[in-house]
Amino acid sequence: MGLYRLIYVSKAHEDVSYPDLVSIMEASERNNRSAGVTGLLCYGDDWFLQTLEGHRQAVSQTYNRIVGDRRHFNAELLSFQEIPCRQFVEWSMKAVQFGLRDDERQLILRYSSRDVFSPASMTAEQCFELMLSLAGMARVRVSTSQSS
Ligand SMILES: Cc1cc2nc3c(=O)[nH]c(=O)nc-3n(C[C@H](O)[C@H](O)[C@H](O)COP(=O)(O)O)c2cc1C
Repeated sequence: MGLYRLIYVSKAHEDVSYPDLVSIMEASERNNRSAGVTGLLCYGDDWFLQTLEGHRQAVSQTYNRIVGDRRHFNAELLSFQEIPCRQFVEWSMKAVQFGLRDDERQLILRYSSRDVFSPASMTAEQCFELMLSLAGMARVRVSTSQSS
């Protein structure tokens, strides 16, 4: 069976805090690694935007588990499609908390009508492109911190 990519958006519960994000990342690291799932989770302005990629059943099962999580609500599936290759291969789940820096605001504006992160009003393609750009920025940060 081929590779699939799923993109969804959801609203974070207002009492979601940093320890919640840490616990989400710990579960993601543990479960996604054994399921062969990779991806990116963006958190900004009380929104989650996540991409999961991997075997179709593994991606479906992971998504079904996530949707029932009480730390977010109103999950909306934006796309679920077969893909030729992964885009986030080095991360069982990369968390990107963003939206405060100027370059991040510019990135949001690049893919939306305003510089306010509102992924539910973006197309799946715009969300995907935004996540690719965020991954690129994260990779630059890693390589810059390694070389300094
Ligand atoms: C926005 C969001 C994203 C999540 N992403 C993942 C994920 O990629 N993989 C995962 O296993 N759990 C993820 N979780 C956590 C799951 O909902 C669930 O709590 C977890 O998988 C349970 O794992 P456990 O049975 O090993 O404790 C996410 C939760 C939220 C709220």
